[in-house]
Amino acid sequence: MNDKGKMVIQATGISRGFRQGPKRVQVLSDVSLQVPAGTSMAIVGASGAGKSTLLHILGGLDQPDEGDVLVDGQSLWKIGDSERCDLRNSRMGFIYQFHHLLPEFTALENVAMPLLIRGESTTEAARRATELLEKVGLDQRMDHKPGELSGGERQRAAVARALVGNPGCVLGDEPTGNLDERTANHVFEQLLELNTELNTSLILVTHDMALAAKMNQRFELHMGSLKPF
Ligand SMILES: Nc1ncnc2c1ncn2[C@@H]1O[C@H](COP(=O)(O)OP(=O)(O)O)[C@@H](O)[C@H]1O
Ligand SMILES: [Mg+2]
Repeated sequence: MNDKGKMVIQATGISRGFRQGPKRVQVLSDVSLQVPAGTSMAIVGASGAGKSTLLHILGGLDQPDEGDVLVDGQSLWKIGDSERCDLRNSRMGFIYQFHHLLPEFTALENVAMPLLIRGESTTEAARRATELLEKVGLDQRMDHKPGELSGGERQRAAVARALVGNPGCVLGDEPTGNLDERTANHVFEQLLELNTELNTSLILVTHDMALAAKMNQRFELHMGSLKPF
């Protein structure tokens, strides 16, 4: 199927503010973003600019005060909680600065988890998880628990877990921010390769301008607005 040109995420008129003590802080003001299938985009901005807030909203983890987010043309906030959960589970992958792998499970089990949650058979989930772990070069580490992996290996396992369900879009919040430069580059290159190979869109929040330069599009979040650069 050729879905080039199709929009995976369409966010329009997003506004979001928070009450902080007596003050109200407006974090996002009328932000719109179109995410075509298979693209990669970087979002940069100062600490506190609202990058994580925007990513949470794009991923359906937080509801905007105004505006709407469509995933595959479906409004995230005109459906029920369980439908939204299903849509998130089937169409989105998340990678954070901290790996959030479950410590008592092996790499294979951690990567298989999203598929088991959505009701795939154990055999199919294990087959697909193995495939993704091979793609990120962890085929020799499948039975290792997170505590037995290096920082880079844990993030590669997190990348495999985000992509295992063949999502339309992967959202990464500084996923290489805790790694040394060499390891960060390695994890990032793998993420970009998989994004191309699987035709998954990738939205990455990063501080690293060199990484941002390798993406298809770059945006800066500043004073509540998103501007291409
Ligand atoms: N749940 C919340 N409640 C109150 N304030 C919040 C909440 N989430 C974020 N904020 C505030 O919104 C602003 C942007 O936060 P964030 O999106 O985490 O920025 P960034 O990821 O760019 O560093 C910050 O001032 C932060 O304190
Ligand atoms: Mg943040």
